[in-house]
Amino acid sequence: LGNGLATTPQMGWNSWNFFKCDIHEDVIKETADALITTGLAKLGYNYVNIDDCWSEPTRNSEGKMVPDSKAFPSGIKALADYVHSKGLKLGIYSDAGLFTCQVRPGSLKHEYDDATLFASWGIDYLKYDNCFNLGIEPEERYPPMRDALNATGRTIFYSLCEWGVNDPALWAGRIGNSWRTTDDIEDTWESMTAIADINDKWAAYAGPGGWNDPDMLEVGNGGMTYQEYRAHFSIWALMKAPLLIGCDVRNMTPETYEILTNEEVIGVDQDPLGVQGRKVHTYGPDGCYQVWAGPLTGQRYVVALWNRCSKPATITAEWAAIGLESSASYSVRDLWKHEYASLNSRTSFSAQIDAHACEMYILAPVASVRAAA
Ligand code: DGJ
Repeated sequence: LGNGLATTPQMGWNSWNFFKCDIHEDVIKETADALITTGLAKLGYNYVNIDDCWSEPTRNSEGKMVPDSKAFPSGIKALADYVHSKGLKLGIYSDAGLFTCQVRPGSLKHEYDDATLFASWGIDYLKYDNCFNLGIEPEERYPPMRDALNATGRTIFYSLCEWGVNDPALWAGRIGNSWRTTDDIEDTWESMTAIADINDKWAAYAGPGGWNDPDMLEVGNGGMTYQEYRAHFSIWALMKAPLLIGCDVRNMTPETYEILTNEEVIGVDQDPLGVQGRKVHTYGPDGCYQVWAGPLTGQRYVVALWNRCSKPATITAEWAAIGLESSASYSVRDLWKHEYASLNSRTSFSAQIDAHACEMYILAPVASVRAAA
């Protein structure tokens, strides 16, 4: 969507994966504080997004949505002021149907009034869900909110949460800044890998202004191992996915912190070329040795060697699979070890990868040095 936003994928935090409906304005404020004190905000995590359950179950006598009086006693405007005072942005949530998934008022047929209300509160981001949609096609239900947001005069990020039902990658580029390509993520290896594979199919449709959204991060929520969370974060970055943290950032373990603050991996996600990397080669038992890769600015390439098997293995990325010229030579930067690796061949790169681990590298061309004759 050409509203000037999403030149790179959005980054921030969202309440749903960890808190579900157990949200409160104090938690949102403490999260904003934590994004600053941990340094996450400086790395680009600047959207603080409230998900479902922020509103009262019914509209007021004027037909307006009302913040839940127990959870948000000070109202959303005060919260937006607080979040803005920290240099961050506030996101809210509604639904392109009669109700949200947790049965709070939806915005279908209330698009202009609700967008106006959100803008008056100082909202910067809207996630727009797909429950209770009366069977009306999403292609019909999502554009009115784009137009309503646009009409407010406030620049508001528009995140479509259509779950990939009608292949939104094919039509949502003109409607939103990102679109979910799958069902909800769960905090398991099976869910994370399945979602990565589905999102991969739509790579060609992502780019500056509009991104495929394989759902929010589960890093730090406890259902996967350290290596699995590193793989989750690496592949999301390679796929130019939104990096929306889904854990409690007030209480992160050192491992969670290390993963979410890896600047070199974040740099891949935020690379201005904006080309979604893809799964380029699979081999080995059940295809569980995987090479994922994509181009970056400066003729560089990101390459991930992902071992989806349950035993350690050596995985090889052939230049031909990545699309590299075999005549050129490359430096190899290891984005998790934060050091240069040495090339073991002129036409491929191999490394030993632990079970379920994903190592990620940037290959950069090195000007060939000719010895004086
Ligand atoms: C379904 C969405 O896909 C989730 O991300 C979350 O927003 C829930 N609805 C909230 O009810």
